[in-house]
Amino acid sequence: MSILVTGGAGFIGSHTCVELLNAGYDIIILDNFANSKPESLKRIKELTGKDFKFYEADIRDAEALQKIFSENKIEAVIHFAGLKSVPQSISQPLEYYDNNIAGTVCLCDVMSKNGCKKMVFSSSATVYGSKNPSPLKEDMPTGGTTNPYGTTKYFIENILKDLCVPDKDWGVTILRYFNPIGAHKSGRIGEDPNGIPGNLMPYITQVAIGKLPHLNVCGNDYPTPDGTGVRDYIHVVDLALGHVKALERLLRTNGCEVYNLGTGKGYSVLDVVHAFEKAAGMKVNYKIAPRREGDIACCYSDPSKAKEILGWEAKYGIEEMCEDSWRWQSQNPNGLN
Ligand code: NAD
Ligand code: UFG
Repeated sequence: MSILVTGGAGFIGSHTCVELLNAGYDIIILDNFANSKPESLKRIKELTGKDFKFYEADIRDAEALQKIFSENKIEAVIHFAGLKSVPQSISQPLEYYDNNIAGTVCLCDVMSKNGCKKMVFSSSATVYGSKNPSPLKEDMPTGGTTNPYGTTKYFIENILKDLCVPDKDWGVTILRYFNPIGAHKSGRIGEDPNGIPGNLMPYITQVAIGKLPHLNVCGNDYPTPDGTGVRDYIHVVDLALGHVKALERLLRTNGCEVYNLGTGKGYSVLDVVHAFEKAAGMKVNYKIAPRREGDIACCYSDPSKAKEILGWEAKYGIEEMCEDSWRWQSQNPNGLN
């Protein structure tokens, strides 16, 4: 029996595939390379010394999905495939609703028809909206998302919850990620954004390597200790290990469960800049800029449910997150080419 990993060539998917292979699972990767490169598959093999099947396919293509299910015995799906840029989702809302929501509905339908009813889904802390106070807990109300990307995660969570109501064979684990950064210790896989990065850590690493002149710190007048935005950064390898734990439980349970994957600690933008400077042994140029539209002051998790039920907690601190992000960027200045 195999685990199908959609979006397995991407940032979080590739790290999770490494940990799944290391834990002894047989995996099959599906990706359309909308935001990744075939080189990442080579590196997963290089890091693990293990082989796996790969299908270049789109999750909206029911025929291609049916072929995968006909040719393989698939026990569960870890579903990473999706588009994830907040600004792009605002300019191309239909593309996001189609890719993320229609794609997930298509995937669940083919899974159901083939008797495969177990899914781990990549959700996001963004579903908590802007009204809940941190630390954020799984039973807080969701919704009030401020962009189409966040809304796709909110809708998909609800679709997956509904799916588990009439059919008790379905089991879905929704994982709400906080802010994944860092990279595999080897420096062989990591985040490889297209164009100018929108997220903080890849922006910092590109300033450090000289590709960008300075970081814009988006707002220093938030009600936080130093005025800059506070987030719960989590090492991508910890996140990957959280998926292995979630899968272990999902394979023996049904129904829909939701878990935060975060560290429970909040760091400000300037905390991250200073931690990075220490890890990389260099100064990072930055300027204070206006607030970014849609940003909230503070967002961090209560990760205790994942610890209690999945037996998972994040092990890496901000120092290692910065060291590993920097190793990845400095060893791969042009990403995965
Ligand atoms: P990523 O873009 O690196 O990986 C997503 C992968 O899915 C890519 O390889 C892309 O080519 C593939 N893909 C996209 N649409 C597809 C389709 N229609 N068919 C087949 N493959 C498709 O992103 P990531 O950071 O690894 O994120 C993985 C998942 O986690 C996404 O669903 C994302 O929304 C979610 N998430 C990410 C973050 C984050 O900050 N990185 C935070 C919360 C949630
Ligand atoms: N920031 C800057 N300058 C930059 C980029 C970011 O100061 O150039 C600041 C932001 O204002 C924020 C913090 O750095 O305070 C983190 O910003 P990111 O863009 O790295 O992350 P976000 O918290 O905005 O969003 C991320 C993902 C979303 C996801 C969300 C919650 O990008 O997809 O986490 O999971 F929904």
